[in-house]
Amino acid sequence: MDLTKLHNLLDSLTLQEKIGQLVQLSGEFFDATDISLGPQRQLGITQETVDLAGSVLNVAGARDVRRLQAAHLKKGRHPIPLLFMADVIYGYKTVYPIPLGIGATWNPDLVEQAYVNAADEARAAGLHVSFAPMVDLVRDPRWGRVLESTGEDPYLNSRFAAAMVRGLQKNLAAGDGVISCVKHIAAYGAAEAGREYNPADVSTPSLFQDYLPAYKAAVDAGVKMAMTSLTTLNGVPATADKWLLQNILRDRWGFTGLAISDYASIYELIQHGFAQDPTDAASKAIDAGVDIDMKSPCYATGLQPLVTSSRLSEEKINTAAWRVLKLKNELGLFEDPYGGTTEEKEHTRLLTPEKRSLARDLSRQALVLLKNDADILPLDSSANQRIALIGPYADEQKMLGLWAVHGDPQDTVTIKAGFADYLAPQQLQTAKGTDVIRDRLMFTGMGLAEEQINQTISPAADEQKNRSEALETAKNADVIVFAAGEHTLQSGEAGSRTRLRLPDNQRQLLAELRKLNKPIVLIVISGRPLVLTDVQDQADAILQAWFPGTEGGHAIADVIFGRYNPTGRLTMTFPYDEGQLPLYYNHLNTGRPADKNHPTRFVSRYIDAPNKPLYPFGYGLSYGSVQYGELKLDSDTLAAAGRDELTAAISVTNTGTVPREETVQFYIHDQVASIVQPVKRLIGFQKVPVQPGETKTAALTITPDMLSFANRDGEFITEPGMFDLFAGPNSQDVHQTSFSLTE
Ligand code: BGC
Repeated sequence: MDLTKLHNLLDSLTLQEKIGQLVQLSGEFFDATDISLGPQRQLGITQETVDLAGSVLNVAGARDVRRLQAAHLKKGRHPIPLLFMADVIYGYKTVYPIPLGIGATWNPDLVEQAYVNAADEARAAGLHVSFAPMVDLVRDPRWGRVLESTGEDPYLNSRFAAAMVRGLQKNLAAGDGVISCVKHIAAYGAAEAGREYNPADVSTPSLFQDYLPAYKAAVDAGVKMAMTSLTTLNGVPATADKWLLQNILRDRWGFTGLAISDYASIYELIQHGFAQDPTDAASKAIDAGVDIDMKSPCYATGLQPLVTSSRLSEEKINTAAWRVLKLKNELGLFEDPYGGTTEEKEHTRLLTPEKRSLARDLSRQALVLLKNDADILPLDSSANQRIALIGPYADEQKMLGLWAVHGDPQDTVTIKAGFADYLAPQQLQTAKGTDVIRDRLMFTGMGLAEEQINQTISPAADEQKNRSEALETAKNADVIVFAAGEHTLQSGEAGSRTRLRLPDNQRQLLAELRKLNKPIVLIVISGRPLVLTDVQDQADAILQAWFPGTEGGHAIADVIFGRYNPTGRLTMTFPYDEGQLPLYYNHLNTGRPADKNHPTRFVSRYIDAPNKPLYPFGYGLSYGSVQYGELKLDSDTLAAAGRDELTAAISVTNTGTVPREETVQFYIHDQVASIVQPVKRLIGFQKVPVQPGETKTAALTITPDMLSFANRDGEFITEPGMFDLFAGPNSQDVHQTSFSLTE
């Protein structure tokens, strides 16, 4: 529709019809299956509100979308199509590893292609908008939503944010992409103590330097929607924060798209103590710049009285409604309200071999080899070894993680199925050994019914039998592979935990297996960095596999049997102990660091635990070996004025017998600055494939803007002075040099 016609349409709408465009309701109101996860609030939602609503939350699938759209278009004076929005966070039906695993790939190009595919599936299934990417920077794995983030580094998160936005929106013009909605603005990941929905309190320099860059990168990549956070930021609920949503997001960054609240977050302004009642909440949210009210009664009931009593200008409603109509128009919904979705098209686009193949590649690049004593991995499948694959995840399809709401575990390749491709039947014995978790209290605390709990926790006698079987199986094997991990419900939204160990029953079984004195490979399935300190010595090799997605079993087998030499590198620190949290590599120094110059008590350290993590940011092993050369610079000064640059280079020699790929990481430290700077911060990386015996050089061009930092006004500045430069395979094992930045 041309824009004049679209304007005419807006002009012809009544106030109530325009407000309708700003209301988003979930499937239950439309007679559809609802997969929403938040608390249901139906207060004040009348049939008229439903009939006028502009968008639908979390209904997907060609059949349902077409049915709802057709019914909707018959209502009301104007046939304005509904927008269908849902969470396609890391894949639709072809599910990828969780974003924390996606981060570990350090491969934004591949991720972009994966999100093109995810968008293709989602659009074929009738969706128009995906609430992705989630780019909240995370530092505290107690928070269950670290699962949805690519990690603790602003530079890497920004690269991934841009890649995901580009991927999702790439084929929009061709009718195959979806609108991307970046979330959650802002700093939701800083929720205090890792407790879900807790306040975020972040200093201005850190907000701009650490937390905001990834959202900005999404805006720069052309993201068309943004979602607010459920939390307060520095005392103001993000959903009604005009400074954040207007001054920063729109004025400073130039975002021109549509802003949506998070689930019921406008209504929750009351509970936060920021609004008196639903009308007051509506007033504050629309004034701050929130266009769509997701799943709360506030806009539906509050906006009209505000306008008719002249407390709110109708212009505000017009602006927001215009943004909604414009998005519908960009999607071509006025021409084809179904957005191209048909059941036939959906059938041909979901879970195709090409999409599965890319998911397998992404999934294996996400796997991080944490330990590999005596090079026990890869296992040689031709060696006629007998392998005992033990553990609750040995033959389990529920490996998608909590936010893969559209994925079907039945499409998932189990670890056992992956292994079966490599081994003769007599080489592989499998036993569950124990449940994922046997903590009834945890499940009742989550509101699960007794029958649901009984599906997860076996009766005591069965558990005993499972254990005995597992031990018997293991006794007859040459190598034990123990597939362990968290339960899906232990991470994701509202999955905060204080103790991040593997469940007790799994640790007990592992300890018993250890007594058999056989090589043990531990595979860890989890939605977060767990504290692996007490199982670290119980295994010879540890493979961190996250929730690996639909192709998880294939990917894990590819790495275990050496078809793929692991390249995954952590993007979130693995703590030694929960008491260290939050723990992240790019922290500030103290006046009394616990180094060799401070051998006494009064230094910054724990007296009962190290300061260091178990595994640092950037860490991950590969098969074979490499040696890094000296870190060299082509100049030892860089001028702040002009377009000066210098190049850092470091050589990598493959000293082993297998080809491998190094992810060479470059970090910076500003020695003296008016706002003190992190001890290290990533400024670039390069992937370097090296053949046995070969030497290659990784290089990075450094420009002054890469050295800038945020001041107290949130502006980026550079200051002359000395900088340390580090390069290496992770944030800890680095080579170092320095240079100066002059005026
Ligand atoms: C989550 C959002 C999600 C929304 C819609 C909320 O509970 O915080 O990330 O997009 O639900 O499902």
